[in-house]
Amino acid sequence: MSESDLPDYVKVNRDHWTKNNAAYTDGRAEHAWNEQEISWGVWNTPESEVNVLPDVRGKDVVELGCGTAYVSAWLKRRGARRVVGVGITPAQLDSARRLNTKYGLGLELVEANAEATGLPAASFDLAISEYGASIWCDPYKWIPEAARLLRPNGELVFLRNSTLSILCMPDHGKVQERLQRPQLGLNRLDWPDDPETEFQLAAGDLIRLLRKSGFELLDMVEIFAKADAVNHPFYGEYMSVEWAQKWPSEEMWRARKRS
Ligand SMILES: C[S@@+](CC[C@H](N)C(=O)[O-])C[C@H]1O[C@@H](n2cnc3c(N)ncnc32)[C@H](O)[C@@H]1O
Repeated sequence: MSESDLPDYVKVNRDHWTKNNAAYTDGRAEHAWNEQEISWGVWNTPESEVNVLPDVRGKDVVELGCGTAYVSAWLKRRGARRVVGVGITPAQLDSARRLNTKYGLGLELVEANAEATGLPAASFDLAISEYGASIWCDPYKWIPEAARLLRPNGELVFLRNSTLSILCMPDHGKVQERLQRPQLGLNRLDWPDDPETEFQLAAGDLIRLLRKSGFELLDMVEIFAKADAVNHPFYGEYMSVEWAQKWPSEEMWRARKRS
């Protein structure tokens, strides 16, 4: 996809992640790459509790919206045969490439829009997104693209904010214990501060889209903060421990492409 074909929000989000990479993620990337245990989201919830990952040994994996590619690194270290990280932000891919060279993992890092990657069809067993395409891309584009990239029986696993947290999130500042926006028509969200565009389909629409795209839903796990959770150094600005101890702040979805 040429630069002029990129949707407006993809360019806005690329600018956002270029700034964020310098301010925050580049400095944390190596630590994340070296985590021994796979964990998810702002509360570092261990995969052993969430249980959404299939066995990746010998499998071909694509990470859609890979950022600094620490999820890709985790999966390669757990025996995936081939791992391709797709990202739109050159600065984030530079961080990923630096670490890939340092640790010699052999990840393939591709600069592309995760809504239309240009990668060959039916070439992966697992498509994964941890706050990548799962929130930054239009679901009506990236979910069909994930389906296209997967082989029959391949799996799609993704992490995103909970719909309830988005409904309780004001345009500025921290999540509230009161609804802030309607669910009717929920999909594109243009956040005004530090402009960025996210997407959030509520569960019913997302389930129908997954099914229409050729997936069957295997699981959806809602994630809460534990009793001893502490506010996240970066996302604590938006999400609080107190809120997430009462309501799910995140969702992990697992689906399988029908054969
Ligand atoms: C929160 S990071 C998540 C990735 C990874 N889990 C991490 O934390 O490093 C979001 C990433 O999505 C990427 N992204 C946003 N829009 C994208 C798009 N249309 N195509 C591919 N990547 C995209 C951004 O460049 C950013 O690196």
